[in-house]
Amino acid sequence: MATVAITGAARGIGLEIAAQHVAAGDHVLALPRKASPALEALAASSGGLLTIHECDVADDASVRAAAAASGDGAIDIVYNVAGVTGPIANELEGADWAAWNEAFSIMVQGPLRVLQAFLPRLGEGSKVINVTSQLGASTWPMGGMYAYASAKAALNRLMRSVAIDLKAKGVIIGLVHPGWVQTDMGGPHAEITPSESAAGIRKVAADWTLETSGDFLKWNGENHAW
Ligand SMILES: NC(=O)c1ccc[n+]([C@@H]2O[C@H](COP(=O)([O-])OP(=O)(O)OC[C@H]3O[C@@H](n4cnc5c(N)ncnc54)[C@H](OP(=O)(O)O)[C@@H]3O)[C@@H](O)[C@H]2O)c1
Repeated sequence: MATVAITGAARGIGLEIAAQHVAAGDHVLALPRKASPALEALAASSGGLLTIHECDVADDASVRAAAAASGDGAIDIVYNVAGVTGPIANELEGADWAAWNEAFSIMVQGPLRVLQAFLPRLGEGSKVINVTSQLGASTWPMGGMYAYASAKAALNRLMRSVAIDLKAKGVIIGLVHPGWVQTDMGGPHAEITPSESAAGIRKVAADWTLETSGDFLKWNGENHAW
């Protein structure tokens, strides 16, 4: 039985990863910005396997408080899932800098805040799996979504550096593109369901090793181009 912590667990991919870990009999520390009815229902039906600790990943104090409230036991996997689309308007002539700052705080500093807060509970073989995006790859062929794409690129580089720095401690870092997923963010016409994405992310997470720490993969286990 593993213990996992999941940010962005209120809905979408994070909620589905939480549900699948509960179904597998794992302990889940759900870290939503704010608990949703769906997450509360999952907690109520989990037989005590899932506990909720509200955690705004853009807020240092909130992350520290959630980590403290969730106990002090060892954690096998931290999933950094929380994300926002950020500004989508054409920004060649002006930009919403407040929205840029929010996007970076949630998707770049956020995963590092969470890692810092949980690091004392991570040891040899613990994993930090970061849900990133194909838009963060230099090979992504489309323009637009400047804040989102550049935040995910920054997350990728950040976590590759962290992977190097935590190798001696035995902590494994993963970067995974979840596919184009039918969530509020991905929209109803996306290619795969949250269930398919979460199952793939869980398998990729389970298979990650120290040798492949810092790699960038797809939900189906294929390598992703940087
Ligand atoms: N869906 C796709 O096709 C797709 C593709 C590539 C990458 N991704 C990535 O996959 C991850 C999950 O996306 P999704 O599709 O599940 O999106 P989603 O359905 O829009 O859910 C986003 C989740 O992030 C949470 N969140 C946002 N800001 C937060 C904050 N400050 N603190 C804590 N939680 C926060 C949201 O909480 P609230 O309910 O409180 O807003 C929500 O639970 C994101 O990192 C996203 O960039 C998604």
